[in-house]
Amino acid sequence: MSEFINEINKRRTFAIISHPDAGKTTLTEKLLLYGGAINQAGAVKGKKSDRHAVSDWMEIEKQRGISVTSSVMQFKYDGYCINILDTPGHQDFSEDTYRTLMAADSAVMVIDASKGVENQTRKLFKVCVMRNIPIFTFINKMDREARDSFDLLEQIEEELGIKTYPVNWPIGCGKEFKGVYDRDNKKIISFSTNGNGHQADAVEADLYDSSLDSLIGASHRETLLEEIELLDGASEEFDMELVRTGKLSPVFFGSALTNFGVEPFLKNFLEMTTPPLSRNCIEGECDPQDENFSAFVFKIQANMNKAHRDRLTFMRICSGKFERDMEVLHVQGNKKMRLSQPQQMMAQEREIVESAYPGDIIGVFDPGIFSIGDTVCSPKKKITFEGIPTFAPEHFARIRHKDTLKRKQFVKGTEQIAQEGAIQIFKEPYTGMEEVIVGVVGVLQFEVFEHRMKNEYNVEIIREPLPYSYIRWIDKTPVEPKDLLISSDTKVVQDFKDNFLLLFSSEWNINWALEKNEGLELRDFNKE
Ligand code: G4P
Repeated sequence: MSEFINEINKRRTFAIISHPDAGKTTLTEKLLLYGGAINQAGAVKGKKSDRHAVSDWMEIEKQRGISVTSSVMQFKYDGYCINILDTPGHQDFSEDTYRTLMAADSAVMVIDASKGVENQTRKLFKVCVMRNIPIFTFINKMDREARDSFDLLEQIEEELGIKTYPVNWPIGCGKEFKGVYDRDNKKIISFSTNGNGHQADAVEADLYDSSLDSLIGASHRETLLEEIELLDGASEEFDMELVRTGKLSPVFFGSALTNFGVEPFLKNFLEMTTPPLSRNCIEGECDPQDENFSAFVFKIQANMNKAHRDRLTFMRICSGKFERDMEVLHVQGNKKMRLSQPQQMMAQEREIVESAYPGDIIGVFDPGIFSIGDTVCSPKKKITFEGIPTFAPEHFARIRHKDTLKRKQFVKGTEQIAQEGAIQIFKEPYTGMEEVIVGVVGVLQFEVFEHRMKNEYNVEIIREPLPYSYIRWIDKTPVEPKDLLISSDTKVVQDFKDNFLLLFSSEWNINWALEKNEGLELRDFNKE
């Protein structure tokens, strides 16, 4: 096998999603510990002074370095080269999660065993389902009092509409959490702490081993035998095809904090999940083994380093080997270029990469030319990946700068933040007004936007909420948009590509506009 193919086969690229506080950071950290990428617990942490998600975000913002490294990390384990993509836990940023999932080949959903499926898991999960990627579940915090394991599985199946297959089964919970039963190998793995938080000591035993009582206790053994019988009778058959299409989720139980069950999870997960597969592009399919380089932009982040006012564009490599200083074609800009200072994140370190393979994520400095969804490829073979759809905003506000002298910074800040996809911006045609309408999917995005405008662009803004909740792009109109018959609480706006749109305050108004304007055709998503 060529080295190139060997490198691709080693790659595992996945995103971790969870409700805030379910243990995503702790699990990520433990995975990095196993990979030897960090050597002390607490290294990934950079948050938690306050429970509120905005302050979490702001706290992270204060420590930008940490937020960068925790957004994409690479480490090696057991012959694999693993890329972990972090996602924001809060549902208001689910569009960000969606974009990150576009770059992942599978997702790990972390669930708190005492809380089960939480509100935000639901919304984030829906986003996962839209992508049809394999979803693995890690039920965390088994070292605390947990809900009944059968109930948890039932809840996941009912609320998220996905079948589950427990790969391992917990033995006890809380202080009595003794270990897990590996259903495939029919072995008990019992854990004990070794004090350094690095790797839990694991002892394996057979289900009918005479030493079992001393390992887990007679009553746990009895309960386990009963539960196994129930499980084998009731649970879904394991079907890899269903896993690969995101219809069946392999479930693992453990405790990230005490490191119980993390390594068995990692081992199984790495075997079950795939290396990078072909991706759709407008020309057909892009095979990772095609030696022509291709990648797409899924994330843009400005001002990661405040002192340098830089802007990093993150790309997921889909085919070919990337080599530093190679010439690439930016398809949307129709321009050949060299990607300057390509970087990769190795745990806390940012490193300049010399080469990278399909499945890897690289960050490049961007002078402001890239947009989310753009394709970069070898000039020898031009391909275009299908774009990343934007979510329809549900909250709108009119914004302007407090200080009239700050106009330039105001325009720059709003445009850059919009280019990152952190907000969507619209203008009011026909009015000659300089104000901008900002649309967001979740209201917390407004707060983050304001915070960033102040901190990164030194502009204080005034925000006036607008009563609209529905947005429609105008596909066809019988008359000039300004002459459409619309109710007084409907507004005509334009996006920054000059497409006309309508903002509505209710669905009733949408129907009204369609009825009154024959030939009017509306679309509820943006094609680009
Ligand atoms: P998140 O990234 O999903 O938001 O969660 P994070 O890992 O930050 O974990 C949230 C809290 O839950 C942390 O406690 C963390 O220590 C705790 N935690 C994570 N996994 C486990 C587990 O397996 N068992 C138990 N008992 N707790 C767990 P904290 O007090 O909020 O933060 P810290 O002071 O420990 O940093």
